[in-house]
Amino acid sequence: MAPRKIIIDTDPGQDDAFALLFALGAPHELEVLGVTTVGGNVPLARTTRNALQLTELAGRADLPVFAGCPRPMLKRLQTAEYVHGESGIDGCTLPAPSRPARDEHAVNWMVRTIMDAPEGEITVCTLGPMTNLGMAMVMEPRIIPRLREVVLMGGGYFQGGNATPAAEFNIWVDPQAASVVFDSGAPVTMASIDCTWTAMMTPAWVRSLGALKSASAEALIGMAEFYMSYGSHKFDTPDRPIHDACVPGYLLVPEAFAFRQCSVVIETRSPETEGMTVVDWWHSTGRARNCKVLGKVDAPRFFDRMYRAFATLP
Ligand code: RIB
Ligand code: CA
Repeated sequence: MAPRKIIIDTDPGQDDAFALLFALGAPHELEVLGVTTVGGNVPLARTTRNALQLTELAGRADLPVFAGCPRPMLKRLQTAEYVHGESGIDGCTLPAPSRPARDEHAVNWMVRTIMDAPEGEITVCTLGPMTNLGMAMVMEPRIIPRLREVVLMGGGYFQGGNATPAAEFNIWVDPQAASVVFDSGAPVTMASIDCTWTAMMTPAWVRSLGALKSASAEALIGMAEFYMSYGSHKFDTPDRPIHDACVPGYLLVPEAFAFRQCSVVIETRSPETEGMTVVDWWHSTGRARNCKVLGKVDAPRFFDRMYRAFATLP
């Protein structure tokens, strides 16, 4: 089977870094066409620098990185240094990037790449606020039927939210962009916090990466230790959800992910619930079941596949 062609849209972020290296560590199954960056966890200049550094860490200085939207469609950008640190990937020290981001804007590159590819060939994976993909769909709606799938980390339902009581960070930062994507008619698969909170990374698993004795593993361990230092007010164990890694995890071991096809719409009007993913779990609205809502993860299979992907990296 030819590897599945994907675009990774990201706001690194330590968990984005895990997702990026997970995908890049499985080149026989996933072909990353390019990385697009967005303002999210930290401002765009930093997420773009981080994406350049992380792709080089994985031995992929050949991979193009395109800077995208610095802020959401309507709201002002709200960042999350309190989780990820000032750099966005605190916990590791990486060499300065050896190459710049490409000149083309991420949204323009995304549109051009999808329009130039055969229909149904490209999957867009969003790991941050969905501003770039939302803007691309508004700018060129013809990309929508050409997409194979949109797989995103974001949202929540029974777990509520992590940015507000009602909303998960990626959706909350840019609810309008998320609404464009969820309403687009494209096949959307959502790894919400209900899913990612069943993919809890343990300190012991992080330590086990040490056996890989690689620069990638060393950086991943450092990032994990920083990332896992946040959240003791939320979690009663040292384990932490490695949110974004569930996106490549779903693409690589789909059988490890429970799911339910539901209607999902994005709340955009109330200051209390803006960014909420309203999941019609019992199909009571009769609305189109536009979203594959991922659920419980078979964590041993997921973490085993991620470990094996990391083992291929320099
Ligand atoms: O809510 C978790 C999401 O917000 C992850 O993508 C994390 O990187 C942050 O962007
Ligand atoms: Ca992210």
